[in-house]
Amino acid sequence: MLHAVIMAGGSGTRFWPKSRRDRPKQLLRLHGDATMIQQTLARVSPLIPPDRTWVITGADQAEATRAQLPELPAEQVVGEPCPRDTAACVGLAAALVAARDPEATMVVLPADHVIEPVDAFLASVRAASELVEDDPTAFVTFGITPDRPETGYGYIERAELVGRPGGISAYRVERFREKPDRDTAERFLETGRFVWNAGIFIWRAGAVLDALARHRPALAEAIGRVSGTLGTPGFREALEREYPSMEKIPIDKAVMEQAENVRVLEVPYSWNDVGDWRALTALVPPDERGNSTQGPVLAPGTSDCIIVSDEGKLIAALGVEGLVIVQSGGATLVARKDQLDRLKAMVEGLGEAG
Ligand code: GDD
Ligand code: MG
Repeated sequence: MLHAVIMAGGSGTRFWPKSRRDRPKQLLRLHGDATMIQQTLARVSPLIPPDRTWVITGADQAEATRAQLPELPAEQVVGEPCPRDTAACVGLAAALVAARDPEATMVVLPADHVIEPVDAFLASVRAASELVEDDPTAFVTFGITPDRPETGYGYIERAELVGRPGGISAYRVERFREKPDRDTAERFLETGRFVWNAGIFIWRAGAVLDALARHRPALAEAIGRVSGTLGTPGFREALEREYPSMEKIPIDKAVMEQAENVRVLEVPYSWNDVGDWRALTALVPPDERGNSTQGPVLAPGTSDCIIVSDEGKLIAALGVEGLVIVQSGGATLVARKDQLDRLKAMVEGLGEAG
């Protein structure tokens, strides 16, 4: 059976001041009527019903997450005592899924992507699960054609074509490299053989647990001690005891860079990793001067700006260029677009005041 796992541990810094510690990006309505996590659930639900869908999130966000996803059984929204990055998150989810069905295949989804159209996305998930059915040791990824030497993504080197499940090309993966430096990314791009990792994975729950046991034994053992308490009152306590000392490492580094049997599908959909405020330009089509605005905004002589007024207060920007201006939750951000990489550090520095 196919299970869905939504990873929703975002820290709520890149969309400050709209996102906050207790209100991270996936719980926000950045565009449209639904929040990002609601859109994520809606996207997979035609294929995977709520009783096989899991959300792994921060313990302090679990209640708000359950309230936004009332169709999910409450115990399938699992709160982590502290964020330990995605290897721990995937390991925990795989243990939960495998306890339900040792043969299960799981689709791992980030909670904060915009993907369209949904039909094409579902077709690619079906194609990937076919690959896993044929080879239960396969780890299937989705490749996006890169258009710049971005250093914030994983890179996948494609080798030969191995099949066309559902008409979608599937390739063997020569290697997986998480977030290379700029020079390496440029080299990768020049070869023409690399695609970006979309951050969505499909594999057998048992296969990823085996891979963790091989490549990250201490982490796998800690997960094992937690899963030993599944279905008992000791589960919460075990999570709280084991989590803080788990290794903080993304699944991309812990497993994907090591894995041998990786496949990549050519994605047939458009994809946007809604990384920070600059992504709003893709969600809110800019006007003729390149401004994307939400709420009451006046912007004479202003160009290439992102301006969001969230509380009904007028923002007037006169003759400025390349800025991000956001008024939300009683705070205002004014930043140069090209400085946004520093927002996370700034917000972390604000501590309680943020
Ligand atoms: N539960 C939980 N716990 N979720 C987490 C944690 C955690 O500790 N850390 C991150 N997540 C969630 C995020 O909320 C997001 O939905 C997803 O896991 C991916 O984490 P990111 O931190 O956003 O990863 P990334 O964007 O830097 O990199 C990944 O995605 C890229 C594409 O967007 C990698 O898979 C890259 O290879 C990939 O290119
Ligand atoms: Mg991301």
